[in-house]
Amino acid sequence: MTPEHQRRFTAFVAAEVAVCAAALVLVLLREGSDAFAGTRLVDLLVLCILAIIAEVLAVEFADRVTVTAANLPILLAMVFLGPAPAMIVAAVAGLWACWRESSVQIAAFNAANYVFPALLGALAFQSLQTSLAIPLDRVTPQLLLGGAVAAVVYEFTNLGAAGVGVYLAYGRQPRVYWRDELGPFLRSLALLTGVGLMVAALYALAGIVAVVVLFLPLFASQYTFQLLVREKQHLGRQKRLTEQYLEMNIGLAAAMIVLLDSKDHYTARHCAAVAMYCRDMGTALGLPEAQVEALHLAGLLHDLGKVGTPDAVLGKEGRLDEVEWESIHEHPMKGAEVLSHLVAYRDVADIVQYHHERLDGSGYPLGARGGEIPESAKILAVADSYHAMTSDRPYRHAMSSFEALKVLRYNAGKTYEALYVETLAQILRDKDLAYRDGTSTDFMDEYERGRVSLRLRGAVFEAAAEAAADAADGGAPAAVTGTRSV
Ligand SMILES: [Fe+2]
Repeated sequence: MTPEHQRRFTAFVAAEVAVCAAALVLVLLREGSDAFAGTRLVDLLVLCILAIIAEVLAVEFADRVTVTAANLPILLAMVFLGPAPAMIVAAVAGLWACWRESSVQIAAFNAANYVFPALLGALAFQSLQTSLAIPLDRVTPQLLLGGAVAAVVYEFTNLGAAGVGVYLAYGRQPRVYWRDELGPFLRSLALLTGVGLMVAALYALAGIVAVVVLFLPLFASQYTFQLLVREKQHLGRQKRLTEQYLEMNIGLAAAMIVLLDSKDHYTARHCAAVAMYCRDMGTALGLPEAQVEALHLAGLLHDLGKVGTPDAVLGKEGRLDEVEWESIHEHPMKGAEVLSHLVAYRDVADIVQYHHERLDGSGYPLGARGGEIPESAKILAVADSYHAMTSDRPYRHAMSSFEALKVLRYNAGKTYEALYVETLAQILRDKDLAYRDGTSTDFMDEYERGRVSLRLRGAVFEAAAEAAADAADGGAPAAVTGTRSV
């Protein structure tokens, strides 16, 4: 809150509290001892207790909607007990709801937002009662009409004052606030009017004891709803933690590739291009979405193991000797080992481990053949070899896309799976030069895509949270959305 907003809000709260206090004094002066006569005092006490229990069981969810049955005792007080008792029940409920607020000012505003609407609702009912001669000891259309009017006045005043308060406190346009609150407001109004009139009819026919009996199952359902919402919040926290964990995982792997790129500038560019070809090949082959995502990530991280390869070997211009080849041959295993420790990458680790294996067993590090090699690793091998051949390397110049495809086709069925060679050839056919030589993307672009995919892997938690939310939504049979607060 800015100092200007603070000042205006303070003035508004002071005015609202003063109006409530003055109205209470005026009503008490006007009604005198009638205000709390006879059995009404017992009823007032019971309604206050019911309002407190309703507030204790209130559940806040979706950040701004509170589910509480406290409006029902307030409505009964507005209709059957009059303005002063209605204000007292509203004040008890409001103060109980607000005592946890760290700001006295906001607590006072929210409490006044229970009391002021209750006063206006009770006065509206009173004027109708006078003009229509509404009896309070039996159910008549006039009684129900008066109750509905009191509920509508209460809800509209509450929404209106909350909008003004939010504007004064935070500068948010009341029109926007009211538009955003319209859904919860209409639900609240419909429930307060519907359930409230039923409770009012019961009170008129059978008195306060029957109302208490009715409130027992209402509170039980509200308690169940509270448990469901807590469960949902727990799942929400779990989902956030999972997302953070997945983010951390991919962030860690990306940091390793960036580290590798600082040793060998070619690597990050190469990984990005291979990831792009892998994704497009997986999609063209009609693979399941999860497999395409794993393939894309594997492309992005397939040379991670080269972090452990000496710089002299990575940048060597001449032929590699036997020892140097050995250190190169270790990189699929090293990369797979790092990834296997990260739970989100276990399926990716397998692809990385086999990406230099060849159909005829001439690859490394295991010399695996044909069916021993995962299909995704065979796809990655084609994309990897194609981009390696079409890139300038310290020991040779780049081949053209046409020449590289010729080499791949020559080896199709021997070292590379023919179907995957043709899939890549089909994809490249109508693409521009930037795509063909892998410069149409970069590591950060592909990294972002991988990050989004990993987020989606957390969807299982989201689905569980959604299921709990649905259960919670369906499990609030008699709850009434309550007074809006700032
Ligand atoms: Fe590799």
